[in-house]
Amino acid sequence: MDAIECIKTRMSIRKFKPDPAPTDILMKVIEAAQWSPSYKNSQPWEVVIVSGEKKEALSKHLVELLENNTPSCPDLPEPQAWPPVIDARITALMKKRGEILGVDLNSPEIRKKSKTANFRFYGAPHGMLLFQDSSLTPWSVFDMGLFAQSLMLAAHAHGLGTVPQAFLTDYAQYVKKFLDIPESKRFVLGISIGYPDMESPVNRFRTDRVNMDEIVRVIQ
Ligand SMILES: Cc1cc2nc3c(=O)[nH]c(=O)nc-3n(C[C@H](O)[C@H](O)[C@H](O)COP(=O)(O)O)c2cc1C
Repeated sequence: MDAIECIKTRMSIRKFKPDPAPTDILMKVIEAAQWSPSYKNSQPWEVVIVSGEKKEALSKHLVELLENNTPSCPDLPEPQAWPPVIDARITALMKKRGEILGVDLNSPEIRKKSKTANFRFYGAPHGMLLFQDSSLTPWSVFDMGLFAQSLMLAAHAHGLGTVPQAFLTDYAQYVKKFLDIPESKRFVLGISIGYPDMESPVNRFRTDRVNMDEIVRVIQ
């Protein structure tokens, strides 16, 4: 698969086959992502892979926190509002996804179900949790985005599916404690990874993109 095809056919996977991916393939995916550019080649990323019993226990812990209405504590604050143009895109996505799945994604009950599915890694056999030192500036968070995209593309090239999940960082302090990760680390993003179950309707839905003229201006 060439680079353009890889970029254009990657999509967020929200139902996985239970089969674990071989460790050497997961390592190859991370090794490829290491070639992402970063500010002054600082490479400010750290990856924790959770699998098996520990991942199940982490899911259980997160679902319990949610069930107990524990206030979330992400290291990167959740956006509280969006500029109108962007808000409209998010509303359109939610509407379309809701229609396809036959649910109202804004209902509190469905939102809770959706968070629970996130906390269960959408059934993926592995989670890759991305951390960095919390003293780093927003430039290093930017680098994490580059790393995350390279990782997801490399996974896709190996036949694996991924989904980036801000929700997995909701209980950042608890995740760090549970996995014995120093409090001084910033939990930036969680990525579920495994073989995609393409039979599932949830994986048949593809997001679209805005017209180029909404985002590009050519000045000469
Ligand atoms: C930083 C970031 C955080 C995201 N958080 C979540 C999440 O918590 N749960 C989820 O199901 N999808 C999450 N997504 C996936 C987006 O919804 C998805 O990338 C977007 O709708 C475009 O769809 P595509 O990935 O299939 O192209 C996140 C994506 C990014 C980049």
